Amino acid sequence: MEAKIKKEFKERFGIEGTMYASAGRINLIGEHTDYNGGFVFPGAIDKVIMAEIAANGTDKVRVYSIDIKEYAEFGLNEEDAPTQSWARYIFGVCREILKRGGKVKGFDAVFAGNVPLGAGLSSSAALESCFAFALNDMFNDNSIDKFELAKIGQSTEHNYCGVNCGIMDQFASVFGKKGNLMRLDCRSLEHEYYPFNPEGYKLVLLDSKVKHELKDSPYNKRRQSCERVAARLGIETLRDATMEDLDKIKSDITAEDYMRARYVIGEKDRVLAVCDALVKGDYETVGKKMYETHEGLSKDYEVSCEELDYLNDIAKECGVTGSRIMGGGFGGCTINLVKDELYDNFIATAKAKFNEKYGHEPVVIDVVISDGAHKCE
Ligand code: GLA
Repeated sequence: MEAKIKKEFKERFGIEGTMYASAGRINLIGEHTDYNGGFVFPGAIDKVIMAEIAANGTDKVRVYSIDIKEYAEFGLNEEDAPTQSWARYIFGVCREILKRGGKVKGFDAVFAGNVPLGAGLSSSAALESCFAFALNDMFNDNSIDKFELAKIGQSTEHNYCGVNCGIMDQFASVFGKKGNLMRLDCRSLEHEYYPFNPEGYKLVLLDSKVKHELKDSPYNKRRQSCERVAARLGIETLRDATMEDLDKIKSDITAEDYMRARYVIGEKDRVLAVCDALVKGDYETVGKKMYETHEGLSKDYEVSCEELDYLNDIAKECGVTGSRIMGGGFGGCTINLVKDELYDNFIATAKAKFNEKYGHEPVVIDVVISDGAHKCE
């Protein structure tokens, strides 16, 4: 990928720039908790977006996407927003840096990636944090701190891409550290690194290839449900709610909002239980909680789909320790914690059964927990 980017950059712009990369993420547990002020447990992975970038001395950004095979050129003022959705991520990052008083000047860029799109691995956060990191390095002497870089990516989603997301993806993409998952408290932003090397187990993703687009999916509606319930309880976020609190107002809210909140309150506690279990090396409990999360996401939060529920059922049948839908939902992949000795059978069975039912195999994505945004040496 790096060689391809270099070749393209040289051909287009005739010079050499600096190479930057940032990563997609997995999330062990803690789904749809970030915008509820709760905990998440993500890690950056070895699937990246990589970009070569050089200042061009103008006030224009000229950028080429190798994977989409499209070129975009835009200015840095609010009215200069490009029409291509991929370019809006980069434009948004520039604008959000400028809005915070940071500097961005014209630059040339070529980028490519191997984060599967629409699989729930946060390719968009990888793109945002790659450019946020690079522009901070190139034009701001790295004076913007890492949390602000993550927030720049998140605000880009809110203000330029129509997704009212939480902070998890951008946080993971910026803060990711090789071999470590991170427990992030999305309210205080306190975080802790957890070395993750479950001996005797493999972590594998199965991509259903059902595509989701959070912008047009009911993601924002889920968030609104949670905010309505929190407002009714007189609290800022569901982080502060208990099941008893929720039951007290059950008759004042819709059945749907009740289900959404029930999931979130349960998930908040599951993340903490998983952290305790991980410290003890108790992967059986980790796996059990993952299945509970899937159940909640499927039945109460209703962000799963038939294909993902089927993959989850297959995992259960194959004795997989833990399995659940990962990311925003409405398609994408499941994350599975599998004992080494069950791995081959699980993969073969999942491929065969899924293919029989849906006419194609799920794509197996092995992940290695890796570093987040960085300059490539
Ligand atoms: C998407 C969002 C995140 C988070 C997850 C669900 O990935 O971008 O902020 O809400 O969904 O956990």
